[in-house]
Order: sequence, then C-alpha cells, then structure tokens
Amino acid sequence: MRITVIGCGYLGAVHAACMAKLGHDVVGIDVDAQKIDELAASRAPFYEPGLEDLLKDVQQTGRLTFTTDLSAARGSYVHFICVGTPQKKGENGADLTYVDAALTGLLPYLAPGDVVVGKSTVPVGTAARLAEMMQAKQPSAHLVWNPEFLREGHAVADTLNPDRFVYGVSDGSEDHTAVAILDELYSAPLALGTPRLITDHPTAELVKTAANSFLATKISFINAMSELCEAAGADVTQLADAIGLDDRIGRKFLNAGIGFGGGCLPKDIRAFMARAGELGADQALTFLREVDAINMRRRFRVVELARELCDGSLLGKRITVLGAAFKPESDDVRDSPALSIAAQLQLQGAVVTVTDPKALDNAARRFPELHYEVDTSAAVLKADALLLLTEWQEYRDLDPYGLGESVSSPRILDGRNVLDAAKWRGAGWTYRGMGRP
Ligand code: UDX
Repeated sequence: MRITVIGCGYLGAVHAACMAKLGHDVVGIDVDAQKIDELAASRAPFYEPGLEDLLKDVQQTGRLTFTTDLSAARGSYVHFICVGTPQKKGENGADLTYVDAALTGLLPYLAPGDVVVGKSTVPVGTAARLAEMMQAKQPSAHLVWNPEFLREGHAVADTLNPDRFVYGVSDGSEDHTAVAILDELYSAPLALGTPRLITDHPTAELVKTAANSFLATKISFINAMSELCEAAGADVTQLADAIGLDDRIGRKFLNAGIGFGGGCLPKDIRAFMARAGELGADQALTFLREVDAINMRRRFRVVELARELCDGSLLGKRITVLGAAFKPESDDVRDSPALSIAAQLQLQGAVVTVTDPKALDNAARRFPELHYEVDTSAAVLKADALLLLTEWQEYRDLDPYGLGESVSSPRILDGRNVLDAAKWRGAGWTYRGMGRP
C-alpha cells in the first residue's frame, strides 16, 4: 500500500520506518528541512534504539522516502497524521495548530476513498471537527482515529508489535470501509494475534488520554506513598514490591523517584483537564491536578534532600547530576525532571555538572548555563555529592568502591531508587534514596 506519514518527529519517523518494514511504500513528510535531510540520509534526528538500523534497512529497499513537499501525498491511499500537539504557551490546553495545518495542507491531494488516519494525541472532539473539514472537500474520504501508545526508548518494538490497535471510525462499526483497509495495512502484527478494538471517534481519542492519565496517576500514587514512607520511616520500594504482587495492582509503573516527565504524560494530563473543563466535566478530572502537584513536589523534595546531603547548604557545593534525559534510552529532555532539578540546584548556589550518555546536546540547548561533561569519570571528579536522576544502565552499574576515590565526599542521592543501598553504604558512602529510610 502506498502511504503518507505527515510529521516526522518521535512518532512519525518511527511510524514511517516501521510501515516500510511491514512492506508498504512510504513517503514521510515534514516542514523541517533539516530533519528531512537527516532522515533521507538514514540518520535518526533523535536517539531511539534500533531506529537508525531500521532506516538504513528499509531505505535500501527503496520503500521509504522523505520530503518537505506535501504534494508527495498525492497518490497515497492512506495518510497518517503524526504531528505534535504540545501544551499551549501559558495555558493547559493542547495546541492543535500543527494538526490543523497538516489536514488543511493535505486536503488538496486527497482522492475519493482515501483514508486519513490520526495518530497524534488530541483533545476529544478533534476528530469530529477534522472529519467535517474533510467532508466539505472530499466527501468520500474517511477519517480514522488510531492512537499510538509507543514509549520512547522502545518505539520501534512498540510500533511493530503493539499491545493493541484502536480504530476509531465515524460510526463505530466493524463494517466501516476503513476497518478493512487498516486491517490490511497492519496485517502482519494482526496475524500475530494483536488485539484490535473498533470504536467511534471520541472513544478512540479518549482511550489515549485515559491511558496516559492512568499511568501518570499510578506514578504519582507511589510517589505520594513515598512521601508517607519518608514521614513514617518506611521503605517505598518494599511497599511497591508487596502491593505489586497483587495482580489487580501490578508492579509496573510503581517506581517511586523524582516523578514523570517527557513530551507526553505532563502535557497530556493538563490538556485532558482543560478539555474536561470545556465539556463541563471538570470535576471528573480534578484528581489529575493533584497527580500533577504530587509529581512537581518530587522535584522540590530532591533539592531539599540534596541540601541535607550537603550539610544544610548548597552554596558553592560541587554537585554532579547523573542523567539529563527524562528517562533512560532517550535523548529527550522535554520536561525532564532531572534537568529541572539540576537547574534549580544551580539557581540555589550549587556548582552543577550534568552528565548523560545521549542527552547533553539537547540539555545544553535547553539550559546553556549549566556545565556539561560527557565522560562520567570526569564529571564526578571532586564532587561533594552525586545525584542519580536518570537510571541509565551505566549509572546503575557504577562501582561504589572505585568511585569513592574520585569524589571529594562519598555522598549519593539515588533519585530513582535503583542502587543497592547496603552495598553503597558498605563501601563508605552516605546513601539517600527516595522514600527509603
Ligand atoms: C508515555 C506512555 O507510556 C506511552 O504509552 C505514550 O504513548 C506516550 O507517553 P513515554 O513518554 O515514552 O511514554 O514515557 P514512559 O515510559 O511512560 O515514562 C514517563 C515518565 O515516567 C518518565 O519520566 C519515567 O521516568 C517516569 N516513570 C515511569 C516513573 O517515574 N516511575 C515509573 O514507575 C515509571
């Protein structure tokens, strides 16, 4: 099938490459010429494990091309909209400028019977509005809302083998023409038994925001328990292990620490609250305000713990922050709790060095005033305290014995509760975890 992917960011670039891997003829389109040049040369414009190899692999077959020219959409049967929906400046709602521009730009190239597939995360009601715009221009074209659940760092595997497919079609019916087209498109993963659910447009849109809200709530729940554990002298990691054994609860996403960040969860819960307000259902989501507040509180708490660790004052203390990305296996620093903590420490007078295996260039663009050092052993040299804030495997594997000789004082704050506290203490370190005695 010949398909178009509009928007070649984290979502679209991976989607385009994976669709070509599934055997389709794909053209990826983006307004950012630099991004397109890189992708055309089989270079991933961001770090995502496996993506560059996949780009090379499929581009050799000739099935994947990239362009900035939207007219390349002409002749495709299916057109994916994969552009971003960032938070509006100074507001909680989602900015739909890019989604609207993608559809408006695509309309002149739509042929009768074409299928437009929305993958971007949008406020409920957007699909109905876009469908109307399509209806006016190309009445026989179809709009499907097909949310994407990929996680950064696992994006290729999540796209090729998702947990489920959700197709939101105008009448919510299995017999809708677009259902068979999407089934053909995804025939390989469907043949492996991937569940697929057919819904109407608003349900499909809500599935995505509800899923992200649930994940955010789970993380904030355990972080709230972490606050309680600190107050009561209990250990939140043992508590998570114990409650997680109940399979109604489950252990995943119960890692207490410095909270969630990234380009999705924070802005998605805020946009969801804003949309609920517009729909007159704001009370239903007031709990998400608390989820957000618990999450942001973690960042202040880390700064306080760092101050305690540095004998009550951050002034002039040399602090090394291990990790800048919002999570490991990513170079994404959007709303990264690690980086926001590093900036706050610096503002409060500490001399901060940040290290990260992949995210330093992005971090330096975001916070040029911080000091960056790519080599871990150089970054930790003569530090008064280490803060492990993104749990890259390299930092989990650090040897407390070897490291003790490099730092000025053996003190570590484990913001992700991933280190063996007994081992670090045994090696002479002052160890602090989050919600652990
Ligand atoms: C998320 C959703 O998981 C994905 O389904 C959706 O498509 C996009 O948003 P992503 O932003 O890649 O994916 O990150 P995710 O793996 O969900 O982690 C989000 C944040 O939560 C990270 O900052 C991570 O460190 C934090 N986290 C995760 C915790 O603090 N504790 C946990 O137990 C799990």
